[in-house]
Amino acid sequence: MKQSFGAVTFAYPAPVFLIGTYDNDGKADITPVCWGGICCTKPPCVSLSLRTATQTFANLVARKAFTISIPSESQVKQVDACGSTSGRTTDKFAHTQLTQARSQVVYAPYIKECLVIVECKLIHAFELGLHTQFVGEVLNVKADKRVLREDGVVDILKVRPLIFAPDTCEYYGVGRLIGKAFAMDRNTRRDAAHNITGRGEPNPTFPG
Ligand SMILES: Cc1cc2nc3c(=O)[nH]c(=O)nc-3n(C[C@H](O)[C@H](O)[C@H](O)COP(=O)(O)O)c2cc1C
Repeated sequence: MKQSFGAVTFAYPAPVFLIGTYDNDGKADITPVCWGGICCTKPPCVSLSLRTATQTFANLVARKAFTISIPSESQVKQVDACGSTSGRTTDKFAHTQLTQARSQVVYAPYIKECLVIVECKLIHAFELGLHTQFVGEVLNVKADKRVLREDGVVDILKVRPLIFAPDTCEYYGVGRLIGKAFAMDRNTRRDAAHNITGRGEPNPTFPG
């Protein structure tokens, strides 16, 4: 027996991104966004949706560049503070005592204390309704060496990113490893991961 909730915003899980932008005067802003995620492999792209009322919206339109600082569980209070005030009236870096750094790749700031940073140039904007969806092409990803696994990739269990539950507006943490994608079924071709990640060999039979 299932209960319907009607036409509501619901998808599990939602990420928590801290979007870094500069305004027209070069003042840095940092804002949490949960309506977003990876949206293309080639070119590598991420999307995020913003209301026109936000300072971040104006900054994105003006500067056409942004960073995503991935916050860890230990930074949840700062994340929430950044989402409860606007860069129009508050210097969020001063307010949260987070340190701003300037991206060397795009004209946007990022948070020095965050362990993973995604640097993007804006390539599309789609007005959807209350929110406009911005698509950024990823020009670089950088991660603190302390969160790398022995095989050189980023360890999600060391980053400990936040997860957002959109219906209850609650923050959660990442749980245990459940399994490795494209390796759970013995009939799965090992090269199928290419179709999502863009790495390894292509698999022409993959439907996605
Ligand atoms: C966890 C969290 C997620 C949020 N996600 C979004 C979002 O996806 N889109 C949006 O427009 N606002 C979102 N907000 C609200 C903005 O962060 C908030 O309006 C902020 O004050 C905007 O700051 P700015 O005016 O400096 O850009 C979120 C807030 C929180 C706390």
